[in-house]
Amino acid sequence: MLRDKKRILEIDRQHLWHPYTQMKDYESRDPLVIARARGLKLYTLDGHELYDTISSWWCNLHGHLHPALNQALCEQLEYLEHVNFSGFTHPYAVEVVERLRRFLPAELTRFFFSDNGSTAVEVALKMAFQYWQNRGETGRTRFLALQEAYHGDTLGAVSVGGVDLFFRLYRPLTFETFRAPAPYCYRCPENPSPDFTRDAEHIQCALRCLKELERILEEHAEEICAVIVEPRLLAAGGMIVYPAEYLRGLRALCDRFGVFLIFDEVATGFGRTGTMFALESAGVIPDILCLSKGLTAGYLPLALTVTTEEIYQAFYADYLEGKTFYHGHTFTANPLACAVAIANLKIFEKERPLEKGREVRAYFHRRLLELFADCPYVGDIRYLGYVGAIELVRDRGSRKSFPPEKRVGFQIYMASLEEGLVLRPLGDVIYWFLPLCVTREDLDEILSRSLRVIERVVKEYL
Ligand SMILES: Cc1ncc(COP(=O)(O)O)c(C=O)c1O
Repeated sequence: MLRDKKRILEIDRQHLWHPYTQMKDYESRDPLVIARARGLKLYTLDGHELYDTISSWWCNLHGHLHPALNQALCEQLEYLEHVNFSGFTHPYAVEVVERLRRFLPAELTRFFFSDNGSTAVEVALKMAFQYWQNRGETGRTRFLALQEAYHGDTLGAVSVGGVDLFFRLYRPLTFETFRAPAPYCYRCPENPSPDFTRDAEHIQCALRCLKELERILEEHAEEICAVIVEPRLLAAGGMIVYPAEYLRGLRALCDRFGVFLIFDEVATGFGRTGTMFALESAGVIPDILCLSKGLTAGYLPLALTVTTEEIYQAFYADYLEGKTFYHGHTFTANPLACAVAIANLKIFEKERPLEKGREVRAYFHRRLLELFADCPYVGDIRYLGYVGAIELVRDRGSRKSFPPEKRVGFQIYMASLEEGLVLRPLGDVIYWFLPLCVTREDLDEILSRSLRVIERVVKEYL
């Protein structure tokens, strides 16, 4: 391993290009060099520790370097590291599916592997599209998605994405998608209430945002293959928590208009929202479900697109009928990743972290309200399971944001690193995306440091 920090940074600066990063920002500061991790902590090469409050990139579940997951990965290296998954199968992929089925609605019977969240979404889109083509309904070529949605960075996923800042530039490369308003309760024109969104379950409204979606279906259902949404939490769109009722209404609309419903649970899956899958909190079963990130507890890239027998059967035909699903990736169902996924699912079965974590989650939510409710610069407080967020505003009454050029969220991120935290913002939304192993003691430390940093930075801009 390279140990010379100066040399690492020199090579990094000369040759590397980091994701979602304006590389010029590195002229005035170095990226942190993370050399080790354990539990909730990351350690820099020169020994500083940081709380990993965003679970790496929303994927770590049981803390870094969990002994059972490490062991599963090491043991797998005695058997099989990789094999082509087209034409072969292996016990590791089969066991992932067998175990995962215990956590999923029985209607979801078919599992298609790929290797990251964006590919899970690409597969879902192509599957939904080809279903209708195989059935002879060739006019159904479009999708309906939400504003503020994020489904990944490959071009199909970008086409259904709605975060303007990330996707605007690429629009000429993407396919046209119908877009319905996001169920963004805090910014809803129908919501003058000063109350915080919290888990969005207390919000009584006429679901105006769903009415607009209904209108699009009324006019265009015959052109539409499927509706795609992130259930209960628009994550990259600003950790926007919305009511379960919306999803029940959406399922009813999809049934009424005969279009498929795709749930992208890449970020919400595997306990992050307090239930194994966010779909459980609404009691809604999608036609296609996208999973990744937490599937291997954040260890290795692996993804699944799960669907129903009805969709699968539209592809099942004699070869010459041309109904084959032509899609696959080199690292589809990689056995090392599958071995870790199996160990991850065993942790859910044996250790039951979600049941054990009930009190910690309630404590997290309560502390967010106690600490931030009276801060005049906190417009909204929202939370769901292990995810919490505050939306910073210059003026609470008018909900006016800080001028974007001030980069308040980014300044908080920079200051948080000095406090031993990673508060990676989404614009001026500061969030915590915690692993399932977080304790009350961790929370006390994380939230008190967070409050200190946020208060210090925001005061300069008020
Ligand atoms: C909801 C959702 N879908 C898809 C993706 C894309 O996953 P990946 O980064 O693994 O391609 C993400 C990533 O953050 C996500 O949050």
